Formats: sequence, C-alpha cells, structure tokens
Amino acid sequence: MSPKVLVTRILPPQAQSRLLEQDFDLYQWQEDACIPRHVLLEKIKGVDALFCLLTEKIDQELLDAAGPQLKVIATMSVGYDHIDVQAVKSRGILLGYTPDVLTDATADLTVLLALGASRRIKESICAAEDGQWGKWAPTWLCGSQFTNKTLGIVGLGRIGEAVGDRLKAFGIGRVIYSGRSEKPRNRLGAEFVPFQTLLAESDVIVVCCALTKDTENMFNYEAFSRMKKSVFVNSARGGIVHQDDLVRALKENLVGAVGLDVTTPEPLPPTHPLYTFPNCLILPHVGSATFETRENMANMTLGNILAGLKNEPLPYSI
Ligand code: GLV
Repeated sequence: MSPKVLVTRILPPQAQSRLLEQDFDLYQWQEDACIPRHVLLEKIKGVDALFCLLTEKIDQELLDAAGPQLKVIATMSVGYDHIDVQAVKSRGILLGYTPDVLTDATADLTVLLALGASRRIKESICAAEDGQWGKWAPTWLCGSQFTNKTLGIVGLGRIGEAVGDRLKAFGIGRVIYSGRSEKPRNRLGAEFVPFQTLLAESDVIVVCCALTKDTENMFNYEAFSRMKKSVFVNSARGGIVHQDDLVRALKENLVGAVGLDVTTPEPLPPTHPLYTFPNCLILPHVGSATFETRENMANMTLGNILAGLKNEPLPYSI
C-alpha cells in the first residue's frame, strides 16, 4: 500500500515534479496560501509523513490528530521554532529540517539589509521616485560605512559566520559575537564577548541565532538603550526582538538604522508603526528566497520524507 503523505504547499517546480513521481497516496494543499489549521487537522489524520513549512504549528494537538502511525515530519526550513520538538521526539517520530543549504542566500540578504540600512536605501529610493532628488549635495542622504567598524554577531552559527565572511570584505575591522558557547577556532577570528559588551561596542549588529526561550525578546528596550546608535539587522526570527520596544527605540533615536527580514506577526500589517520610520527597512521574510535555494530546500525535505518512510535515519535530522 502506498504511504499516506501530506504536503502543505505546492513546491518549487523541480521538487514538485519529483514529488509527483513518488508512489505516495498524496494530499497536497493546492492554494498559494497557508493551509488553514482546521484543514491541516483534518487532513493529517492517518498520514505516515508530513511535509510542512515554517507556517505550520506542529504541536500536541496536531500530533494527536495525526494518530500513532505518523513516522516522519520534515520541515522545509532551517528554523524549527514552529515545532514542539520534544513532543515529536517523545512519540518516536523522525524529524527533519534543511540546514546549510540556505546559508548563502540568507547571509547575502542579511548583508543587503545591513548595507541598505546603513546607506539609507529606503530614503534614497523614495527620494528618487518622489521627485525630491535635487542637485548633488555634500551631506544629503549620507549614511555610515563599514570600514574599520565593529561587527557584532548574535549567534555565530553557519549563517552568522557567512555574514561575517561577507561583511569583512566591506572593511569591517573587528568582529565580536555572543551566544550560548564560545567557538574558539572560528574562521573569522571573532572574539566571544558577553551580550552586554556586544551591545555597547558594535557599530553593526546582526541577529543570526535561533528563536528559543533564551533568545525570545532579548532585544528589548534595555538592550536598545545600551547600543551606540548602531545598525541593527534581524534576519533570524521576529520573536527575538521585542517589537514595541524597537518602535520606542526608533522614536527615541536609540538605534541608527534597522533592517528586518522577520517580524511579529508575519505578514506585518501595512499599518504597523515600524513602516513609518525612514531608517527602518523591512522585507517580507525572503532570506532564503532564491530559486536555487528553495529547490534545494524542497528536495532535502523530500529526501527526509523518503528516508523516514523507509525507517532509515534522516539525512538532515533535528
Ligand atoms: C527560514 O526562515 C527558515 O527557517 O528556513
């Protein structure tokens, strides 16, 4: 009998073709929008494998609805804060994700946000498009550059290190990082410092850590108050930032410029006050959004599903 597989979205074209070649009893959500929770809860009943995205909450309720035959859950994401890992593992369900493959794309976008925020790209584009572009002027739309500045990386994992590599090419003079543990032989020659030191000494701060109980809201008003007026970039998860405190910090000019690829909630409603700041650049969670990376992520996820259905160890296991 073909295994029952639930896939919560249409995949990028090559991975989609590969999916359709499989001998699966497949239910796939066909709309270009998230599968509604009640549909997910209904369709998960009796499935052997779930291919999900970061938009689906995987919790006790969902696992109960699935039933005891569920063998494998694979998320097409590197982040897994949407999954109750303990609940999944305690039921003996295999759990897969997509590390490494999105490092370059996400690091590229993080650098884009850092440069874009520090060089006032949002104001510059608006000025050009809105007819405010006058004759060349010595200080008009000046930002700050990275030469000899201090970069602070919160979370020196794969993405943090890749961001560091890239930003060093822009002349960064010193790299410091904070996180759960020291990485003594990191290739950036970056120095491990307490979070408070990172806040006080960095000219550019990039958030590259996972969202956990420890990192939730770690960028609150107090943290913003300790910064020099630095460039602050978050391409990890919105929940790491206390967003109302960020609004307050922007109002009080505590932060020089901000670049966000992640917010709370997502999508961030167009009426949200964060959009009103000219020095706050917001992108709609597109860190890994290249055709190459998304194909790779979908293929890895499918690989995890296929291994799990054969009771083999997952190639990319949490
Ligand atoms: C994207 O945010 C991911 O976790 O893959």
